[in-house]
Amino acid sequence: MRKIAILTSGGDAPGMNAAIRAVVRMALHNGIEVMGVRRGYAGLINGELFRMDRHSVSDIIQRGGTILRTARCDEFKKEEVRQKAANILQAYGVDALVVIGGDGSITGAKLLSKLGVAAVGIPGTIDNDLAYTDYTIGFDTALNTVHDAVNKLRDTSTSHERVSVIEVMGRRCGDIALYAGLAGGAEAIILPEKEFDKEELIRTILDGKNNGKMHNIIMLAEGVGGANELAEYIQNISGLEARATILGHIQRGGSPTVNDIVLASRMGAKAIEVLMEGKSARVVGIKDNVIIDEDIDEALAKKSVFDEKLYEVAKILSM
Ligand code: ADP
Ligand code: F6P
Repeated sequence: MRKIAILTSGGDAPGMNAAIRAVVRMALHNGIEVMGVRRGYAGLINGELFRMDRHSVSDIIQRGGTILRTARCDEFKKEEVRQKAANILQAYGVDALVVIGGDGSITGAKLLSKLGVAAVGIPGTIDNDLAYTDYTIGFDTALNTVHDAVNKLRDTSTSHERVSVIEVMGRRCGDIALYAGLAGGAEAIILPEKEFDKEELIRTILDGKNNGKMHNIIMLAEGVGGANELAEYIQNISGLEARATILGHIQRGGSPTVNDIVLASRMGAKAIEVLMEGKSARVVGIKDNVIIDEDIDEALAKKSVFDEKLYEVAKILSM
C-alpha cells in the first residue's frame, strides 16, 4: 500500500472533514501517499485529483461541510463510467480508494471494487440509514441542530398555544425524526417506517390540550412529507392554530459535535488500518461502541430494523 485516494460523495455531513483529516494523517503517519479527489465520483471521472499533505487538512477538524466538495453523479451507475474511474485511479498509481458518504456512495465503492479497485467505505450521512453501523458521521450534529430548532419553535408555539409541525430530513429512514422527536418531547412522531392515523393524531393533540398542554410538537420525517398540508389539516379539524416549519438543509451544516468528531476520527483511522491489513471491499462502522470493519456486500445487504421500543418510549414519555 503506497498510495491511496480519498473522496466525499452524496449529501455532505458535519464530521466529513474530521474523517478526511484522520484518513490523511493516519496514512501519512504510515508512509502512504494521499491523493484528494474533488467533487466525489464526478470529479474522479474528470481526473480532479491532487496531492494532499499534512497541511491540506490543517484547521478543518471543527468545520462543517467537506473541503473535498461533494457531488451526485448519476453517470456513475453505468459500468463503463466506473471503468473509466478505475482506469484513472490506475493511471495515478493509486492502490486504494477511501469513500466517505451514504448508502449510494458506498454502493458506488462496492461496484468499483468489482472492477479491481481496493475500496473502503466510511459512513458519512446525517440520515443514519446504514443498517450495518449503529451511527453514521453527521447524525449526532444534525440531531443537535434539530433539537435547537425544536426548542425555539416550542417557545413561540407555547406563547401562541399553537401546534407546530416540524419536518426534518430523512427520505427512507426516520431516525432523525425519532431521536429528535424523543429529545424534543414531541407529542407525535411521524416517520416512513410506521403507519400513522390522522384521526388518532387529532385525538392526541386534543387530549393534550384538555390536559393543559400549551403546545404540540409534531415531528414529521421528510419521507412522509407534506408538512404544510398536515398543519392545515390539523388546524381545520382540531380548531387549534397550526404552523409548519421545514428545517431543510440547515440540518446538513454547522460544526460537528464532539461525538461526530471522535466518531469520524476513529473511523478514518480504522479505514487506513483495514487497508494496511491488505483488506479490500470493506466498510468501517461502529457497533456497541467498537469500531468494526465488514465486507461491503454483506454490510449493504443488511436491512434496517426500526427501533419500535424507542418509538413507544417516546410516545409514552410525551403524554
Ligand atoms: P448518499 O451517498 O448520501 O446516499 P446518493 O444516494 O445520492 O447519496 O449517492 C451519491 C452518489 O453515489 C450518486 O450520485 C452516484 O454517483 C453514486 N451511486 C449511488 N447509487 C449508485 C449505484 N447504484 N451504482 C453506482 N453508483 C451509485
Ligand atoms: O442523504 C442526506 C439528505 O440530506 C437527505 O436527508 C435528504 O433527503 C437529501 O439528502 C437531500 O438532498 P439534496 O441535498 O440533493 O437536496
